[in-house]
Parts: sequence; structure tokens; C-alpha cells
Amino acid sequence: MSGSIPHGGTLVNRYDPHSDLSQAVHSVELDAFALSDLELIAIGGYSPITGFLDRRDYESVVERMRLADGHVWSIPITLPVSQEAAAPLQTGDLVRLTYQGTVYGVLELTDMYQPDKQKEARLVYGTDDRNHPGVKRLLERPPVYLGGPVTLVKRTDKGVFSEHCYDPAQTRKLFAEKGWNTIVGFQTRNPVHRAHEYIQKAALEIVDGLFLNPLVGETKADDIPATVRMESYRVLLSRYYPAGRVQLAVFPAAMRYAGPREAIFHALVRKNYGCTHFIVGRDHAGVGNYYGTYDAQHIFRNFTAEELGITPLFFENSFYCKACGNMASSKTCPHDAAHHVALSGTKVREMLARGEAPPPEFSRKEVADVLIAGLQAQVSR
Ligand code: ADX
Repeated sequence: MSGSIPHGGTLVNRYDPHSDLSQAVHSVELDAFALSDLELIAIGGYSPITGFLDRRDYESVVERMRLADGHVWSIPITLPVSQEAAAPLQTGDLVRLTYQGTVYGVLELTDMYQPDKQKEARLVYGTDDRNHPGVKRLLERPPVYLGGPVTLVKRTDKGVFSEHCYDPAQTRKLFAEKGWNTIVGFQTRNPVHRAHEYIQKAALEIVDGLFLNPLVGETKADDIPATVRMESYRVLLSRYYPAGRVQLAVFPAAMRYAGPREAIFHALVRKNYGCTHFIVGRDHAGVGNYYGTYDAQHIFRNFTAEELGITPLFFENSFYCKACGNMASSKTCPHDAAHHVALSGTKVREMLARGEAPPPEFSRKEVADVLIAGLQAQVSR
């Protein structure tokens, strides 16, 4: 068999462009974050979830990382609206979901509730510190959550990413056509540097195909923009990866920066796209010093292999070692840190912004060139 079984057993499909909206009297306006969640629910990326979580599922996910029916799920998928937007609504209503005035979907409203966001922050993000970008975003979104099944009636415009947009049903078909039985998913919100390349290729030694799936939804302002990153992926793949063993596709979700909880979420969603394996390296989906280096690996111990249905592949912090003359990790390199080329993300971004290429041991020259040109074009815009 090619690929994995969707989470919950069936790939959800809630897209119906002919859906009857005549009974929907009220509308609520979505932010870009909720619009991306609406579309991901509808195309089955979040299977078995069929809508924005009602209170029961929400509390269950926040408190025990499971939907109320017991399926593992670690990040609450919610639809926050203002008190004013919620005021005219009643459970049982059909509600149009708009973005910048255009109708994208409809919600069968089954629940409306006021979440305890401090608790959500502490349990999902591990902190209620407002300086955490995910917590900040959570707290600045409106205070009432709407729950209920959704139908997507219009696909979003993918703009420059169209060429690399695939729904889970399509990636599953692609993997089968390629004859891949085992597929490793790779989440990233950064350019692919040598350490990423090293762990991807280490995984490729044991599976049939790599699903390079960069997140292109909302990210924090100082992350490298997705448009610039996409160009760097294209140039890297064309020069350094065998074409028949990699599939590049964008992941349209917003970044939560929830570290361990987001690693579980990222793995389950990639399972829905058809992956059998998923890479979790150091500080996956982390930010600042909020999470321990390997917390996002340890969290997988809470679940059995059967209930996850996707195999995580864990990697140590990787670096180039000048004494080894190789990429390595503490598992394979006997030399001390003085021989290792290690740079923080912040340092790299500062160098790139100054037009300076990071050392070739850290980043392929072709990748650095694309990033410098892309970032400078942004500044001069
Ligand atoms: S993330 O927020 O999307 O996780 P990033 O794009 O940096 O950030 O990481 C993508 C994946 O590569 C994650 O699984 C992360 O743990 C892993 N990773 C990043 N850098 C390293 C490294 N130097 N060594 C090992 N794993 C790494």
C-alpha cells in the first residue's frame, strides 16, 4: 500500500462550491489565520475534524491532547469572533464565513463559548508570556469562539504558490503514481540550510520519498517571507536532490510556535497528506527559549504508534564539523564545539539582511544568493 491511512480513517472533504447559502442570514468575517484553517479542514488536512471545535472538543484538546472521541489532536482549531459579531447569532444558525467581504464558507453553528485563553496559552504553548509570538497572537484574536461543521464554498487564491499547491487527496495520488510506499514529511518555516538537508537526506536513505512541505501561512514578522523561501527551495532541489525522490508542496497553515504540541499537530496533518514518517529535529516549531531542545520529540511518548499512525523520525542537533569534514551530530562526531559551524537563526537573518552570505558549511551558496537577493528586493520595495 502507498502512504498512510488518514487520521480517523477517512479523508474529510467539506468543499462544495454549489452549497446552498440561502438559509444563511448572518455573516462573520474571518482573519487570514481562520481562513487558512477553514480551507485545511475542508480539504481534509485536519481529518477527522470537520469544523471549528465546539467547547467539548476544545476543552478536551486543550486539557488532554485528544478530541472528545479520543483521537489524538494537540492544537485547538478555533474560530474567534468579537462580542459584536457573536451577538446576533444563535446556535442552529447557518453563518456565512467571509474574508475581506467575499464568502468562502458556511458554518453550521452548534456552539458559542468564551474560552479561558490564559489556560489555553499555558497548556498549549506552555506559557502565558505575551512575548511568545503564538501566545500574543492567541490573546489578540477576539474573545468568543464559534463551533460547528463547516463547508468551504470557494477556494482561496494561492497567487505565486499555485504551482506548488496540492490537496491531501492529490498528494496521496501523486505518491501512489511515483510508486512510493514510505514517505517522510518535512515541516519548515525557514530556508533549507545544510542541517535541514542533512537530516532530510538521512531520512531519504531509509524511505522512498521526501515530501518537502514548507509552511506558507501566517508567520511572525522576522521570519524569512515564504515567497523568498520558495525560490531557495527550488534552486536547492534542482541542484542537490534527485528529482524523482522529492515532492515540494506548500503547507498553507499559520505557524503557532507551540513547539511540542505543534510537532504532534504537524505530524498528524502530514499523515493526512499521505506521509508515513515525519521528521522532528531540534526545537521543532520552537521560538526563543520557551522549549527544551528535544521537548518536541519527548511529547511523542504520550501516544502509542497505533493512535498516531505516523512514525516520527527524531534527529539530534546537526552541524558541520570542520574536523570531521562532514555534517554531523553529537551521535556521530567526537570533536568539541570549537570545530562546529553553528549559527543562530537571528544571526543568519542579520547577515543576509546585510548582504553577507553565511559560510558554505552552514548554507549552500545558491541558497544564500537567493535569500540575499530576495531580502534586498523586499527592503528596496
Ligand atoms: S520549524 O519551526 O518549522 O520547526 P525549522 O524550519 O527551522 O523550524 O525546522 C524544520 C525542521 O528541522 C524541524 O523538525 C526542526 O526540528 C529541524 N531542525 C532545524 N534545524 C536543525 C538542526 N540544526 N539540527 C537538527 N534538526 C534541525
